[in-house]
Amino acid sequence: MSTDAAQVAVTPAARAVPRPVIDGVARRVRRLCRKHAAKLPFHGWHHVGFVRDKAAYFAGRNGADPSVAETAALVHDLNYIVRRNSSAAAGRELRMPLLAKAGVEALAAEWIDDVVVEAEMCTRTRDISLEAQALSDADTLFKALPTTPVVLAHRYLEENGIGLAELAAKIVGEQGTPHDDGFYFYDEEAARRYGRWATANLELWRCIQESLDDQDVDNLLGAIPRS
Ligand SMILES: [Fe+2]
Repeated sequence: MSTDAAQVAVTPAARAVPRPVIDGVARRVRRLCRKHAAKLPFHGWHHVGFVRDKAAYFAGRNGADPSVAETAALVHDLNYIVRRNSSAAAGRELRMPLLAKAGVEALAAEWIDDVVVEAEMCTRTRDISLEAQALSDADTLFKALPTTPVVLAHRYLEENGIGLAELAAKIVGEQGTPHDDGFYFYDEEAARRYGRWATANLELWRCIQESLDDQDVDNLLGAIPRS
């Protein structure tokens, strides 16, 4: 092997965001999550930390810039602090100053903001960037976990001020096409490992929609005492 080839072989992949800067972003986001914990019963640090870890994992598998995928995961849900029930784009007004203060270069910050918007469930397509695929798989996995509807769905309703019918319509409306067209997960291992969970989750929400049209269920829900 020539000297040049050896140098290429040991050169780590280019990273747009240095590790100490990512750690600084994480500290700032965690602080914000703590400060606004009452507004984030669903999208708090428990969610962000999970998505961060999984986005880094999926980026390590698909060749994405892992530093961009991880940093995007850290700032992907800041919109829920800006305004409840808002789109990812609404988080830009918090995201960009936070990234700048943490020392993320302006071009990398724009890249990260693009990845966040690109990965959003309601608009993502089969052909998004590798960094957005890593973020999307991480965020989608959180949604597809069998524990999420049982343990956390009521927190989503509370956080975003919506009812069960609206949440069911959102989930079925947003997740149906990616699931049925085969890009629910971009990572093949994730699709194999979690595909059944995704299918069961979607079917559950379709059944919830159906049940809300049933008069007996409507009567039952109306009879539950308010706590
Ligand atoms: Fe998220």
